[in-house]
Amino acid sequence: MTAPQPQSWSGESAEFDEYAAEYQGGLDNPIKRMMGSSPDQFIAVKARWLLRREPQLLKGGLAVLDYGCGVGSLMRVLAQLGAKASFTGCDISTGMLEQVAKRWPAALGAPPALAPQQGAHTPFEDLQFDVATISAVLHHVPLEERPAVYAELGRVLKPGGRLYVFEHNPRNPLVRHVIARTPIDRNAILLDASEVRHGLLDDARYDLETDYLMFMPPGIAVLRGVDRLLTWLPMGAQYAVAARKAA
Ligand SMILES: C[S@@+](CC[C@H](N)C(=O)[O-])C[C@H]1O[C@@H](n2cnc3c(N)ncnc32)[C@H](O)[C@@H]1O
Repeated sequence: MTAPQPQSWSGESAEFDEYAAEYQGGLDNPIKRMMGSSPDQFIAVKARWLLRREPQLLKGGLAVLDYGCGVGSLMRVLAQLGAKASFTGCDISTGMLEQVAKRWPAALGAPPALAPQQGAHTPFEDLQFDVATISAVLHHVPLEERPAVYAELGRVLKPGGRLYVFEHNPRNPLVRHVIARTPIDRNAILLDASEVRHGLLDDARYDLETDYLMFMPPGIAVLRGVDRLLTWLPMGAQYAVAARKAA
């Protein structure tokens, strides 16, 4: 597979740079703050789900790309939960990337390798990663540019590699309410899990599964078990599409 040439891209680094220094995962929204007291509680729901799907992350040896990594929260929380992967992050916002090392605790060792997204081109070799994640990014990508993102993720994944797409679930009315009132989401266009599945399958052959996450407030640890019983119900605040690339 050959890398697509960099092309024009309507997403502006500056749009997200503006939020980078103070970025706290949308917790400036009062309703979101009622559900959890720190951004990490929300990220940890995804991280724990991912560690159940990818237990090898705890043993080490996997190359993991977090596409649109922002300030690096997902990689950091995964590492804090025991993941020993070789992490790489990319993002269209250099301001966000500058925050990754600043927010990476020294106790976790070296911070992730980072590279700025170059237009539509994701700056990595073909077939480089065992696992790729893209969390809360696609709703910021204009509709006509989403196929290029799917294509790039497919290109950099190894055969048999796994891609995990985490997104806000537009079927959940509370999610729509919060997104409509969160400054960083002013240009967001939410997407249903079926759109992700179709977008991925238009590009490559994957085995796909969808789980729904975050039915209960992430701040209430005793309710975590309820979330695990409801992954089939398309009403969670988030969803995860798990895509295994053909070997
Ligand atoms: C809501 S933040 C999510 C950050 C991180 N993934 C997380 O879960 O905390 C969205 C991020 O997507 C990045 N982004 C938006 N469009 C992008 C694109 N086309 N390519 C790469 N990153 C993009 C933004 O710069 C921002 O850092």
